[in-house]
Amino acid sequence: MSSHGTPRLNVRGIDVPAFLYGTAWKEERTSQLTGMALSEGFRAIDTANQRKHYFEAAVGEAVDAFVKMGNVPRSELFIQTKFTYASSQDHRLPYDSAVPPALQVVQSFERSLEHLQTTHIDAYLLHGPARGRGISREDWEVWQAMEGLQRKGKVALLGISNVSVEQLAELLTDCSVVPAFVQNRCYARTGWDRDVRALCQASGIVYQGFSLLTANRQEMKSPALMRIASECGRTPAQVVFRFAIQMGMIPLTGTTSALHMREDLDCFDFELSTRDIESILQLGRG
Ligand SMILES: NC(=O)c1ccc[n+]([C@@H]2O[C@H](COP(=O)([O-])OP(=O)(O)OC[C@H]3O[C@@H](n4cnc5c(N)ncnc54)[C@H](OP(=O)(O)O)[C@@H]3O)[C@@H](O)[C@H]2O)c1
Repeated sequence: MSSHGTPRLNVRGIDVPAFLYGTAWKEERTSQLTGMALSEGFRAIDTANQRKHYFEAAVGEAVDAFVKMGNVPRSELFIQTKFTYASSQDHRLPYDSAVPPALQVVQSFERSLEHLQTTHIDAYLLHGPARGRGISREDWEVWQAMEGLQRKGKVALLGISNVSVEQLAELLTDCSVVPAFVQNRCYARTGWDRDVRALCQASGIVYQGFSLLTANRQEMKSPALMRIASECGRTPAQVVFRFAIQMGMIPLTGTTSALHMREDLDCFDFELSTRDIESILQLGRG
């Protein structure tokens, strides 16, 4: 195993590794790539009970094998999964879509525990609100069911994904448990999701950024980013991940390459200057 490790953050008293390995779109390679990520030093894994894009049971196989080989105890791993509405699933639904939303959450969660071969989940996310705008009655029922799972000690932290600033603000008006995480696609052209990040910061929510590289393909090739990478002696991808970390985000990577896994975890031993951060914040603005 590599000597790389991931620094940890304290999120509401829970130890959370500062970089997440994402397992979407890996299909039959999910188990092997999750095992590789763990061997390279990732300690936080993101998945979803949404067979259309994720293979949660294969993540569970890899985690179980890694723990059983004596590499780390389960308690050192951070496993995050999601509840996904039927409208974003295919025919391989992990619950009965005819039952009320709160019961769908309970059924989906129980299946996640089976898939992940665990008795508790470290973070449980609503994959996205039911509609593009607003927090619907269905969303409230789902969120309250998720709060119930946390109250029972089955999940440590809650979160929400694919959320707009208006939706997050609405959720915050009436939730009993403030989400610990927001997980969003992070575009440079929106100031790296500036408004959502600002509300997260004001509300004690940790922002998880995904598609930091793939949502910003043009910006990745910009002269400003190339200059910063060259001055730091790092790759543009490492600069973007380092930027995310310095902005207080937990980045996600779904790389399939051992070299990229090592490079991604090598983002904790250098510092971007205030000037570099300002230049990166400006990327994608016209
Ligand atoms: N909540 C949601 O709705 C949602 C949606 C999408 C994703 N996610 C989560 O976010 C995770 C990551 O997805 P993503 O869209 O951020 O990215 P991704 O799927 O990991 O895509 C990254 C791409 O960048 C390439 N790459 C090149 N250099 C790299 C480097 N140094 N490090 C990493 N990648 C490099 C990778 O190629 P190589 O494989 O060759 O490295 C890969 O093609 C997913 O697996 C999933 O867990 C969540």
